[in-house]
Amino acid sequence: MRTQVAIIGGGPAGLLLSQLLHVNGIDSVILERKTRDYVLGRIRAGVLEQGLVRLMEEAGCAGRMHAEGFSHDGALISYGSEMFRIDFAEHTGTPVLIYGQTEVTRDLYDAREKAGGRIEFEVDDVVIRDADTDRPHVQYTRNGTARRIDCEFVAGCDGFHGVSRQAIPLTVRREYEKIYPFGWLGVLSETPPVNHELIYANSERGFALCSMRNDHLSRYYIQCSLSDSPADWTDEAFWEELKRRIPKAQADTLVTGPSIEKSIAPLRSFVTEPMRWGRLFLCGDAAHIVPPTGAKGLNTAASDVHYLYNALREYYRDGSEAGIDAYSERALARVWKAERFSWWFSSLLHRYPDQSAFDLKMQLADLEFLRANKAAQQAMAENYVGLPY
Ligand code: APR
Ligand code: PHB
Repeated sequence: MRTQVAIIGGGPAGLLLSQLLHVNGIDSVILERKTRDYVLGRIRAGVLEQGLVRLMEEAGCAGRMHAEGFSHDGALISYGSEMFRIDFAEHTGTPVLIYGQTEVTRDLYDAREKAGGRIEFEVDDVVIRDADTDRPHVQYTRNGTARRIDCEFVAGCDGFHGVSRQAIPLTVRREYEKIYPFGWLGVLSETPPVNHELIYANSERGFALCSMRNDHLSRYYIQCSLSDSPADWTDEAFWEELKRRIPKAQADTLVTGPSIEKSIAPLRSFVTEPMRWGRLFLCGDAAHIVPPTGAKGLNTAASDVHYLYNALREYYRDGSEAGIDAYSERALARVWKAERFSWWFSSLLHRYPDQSAFDLKMQLADLEFLRANKAAQQAMAENYVGLPY
């Protein structure tokens, strides 16, 4: 098989890149380890920056997003007996869109299939060959049969546990990592959201988040121990703990119900440098991971895709290599800002096992300053709604 761009990974990054290349007349093939249904079964955050919305519009995939998504102009932060609002409209003039990332992925799959896009599902043994030459190729198996794709470029969109990152030699690759000493226990319930905007809660018992997918599907999280498993938490225990961590007014009006999904996610900050090696380009979780606090995972994958698809369009349309040569530096400049915001927001809201009394006072001072200072709120709002590409 031959294509211009071989894309490893059929998650949101790989799908968005493939569709944007397609609308610009550039051919690609996606190699995905799982089935489409398996990929769509992953529950992921639902806060989209305008940059991602614009990319979906460019890709011709934004119809359902605009019809079913909810525009949010602010979010709430609670601590102790306080709760205050960060007004995105006042500070940035930019909203965020509440729309499940699973739905983004579904819209992209539908668009690729409508366009006759080539997606190989249930592939195994993917190996990138000769990425440091101008004739790379990808070997893989499917149904036990060895296969090969000859291409001009390879996009590694295969997530944190993929193979693409490993194709960059350790002599070239630098990795940066921070593991957080807690996880997020998340519950999806067919109940009305407790509040029309998201509530991020710092409580003495730990972090909690009240989010939603739509007005009859709510998403809640509580910080939990890494030694916990979902089976350790009955629905009742989850709801009672959530109520202890959010303001009383919301705890008293919280509509509870059976969990239709319950899972625990570990938290990690991670960056690989560089994000390019020869004709291999890393995008999304293959190159970087953020704690979900700032909902920057998909939104940072989106800016990677923006830089890469424009670079490839420039190469094929103008014969210029300027964009592909600048890709890693451009992408990393925004990645590190998203890493910083996600780390800072996580430090602001979570209780850390080794926090000293002084550390707690610093966290409280940070919250007090954010509550009282418009400049601090503007800085937070600009990061939350998404820094420019
Ligand atoms: N071969 C082929 N496919 C692979 C391989 C492999 N060796 N390894 C992983 N994959 C596939 C996975 O099955 C998955 O569908 O690559 C895809 C990677 O998708 P994600 O992990 O969702 O990563 P990405 O597309 O970068 O999405 C970034 O989107 O869903 C949000 O918040 C989430 O941060 C994440 C962001
Ligand atoms: C979610 O709805 O899953 C969500 C929302 C905001 C976050 C993280 C997760 O910061």
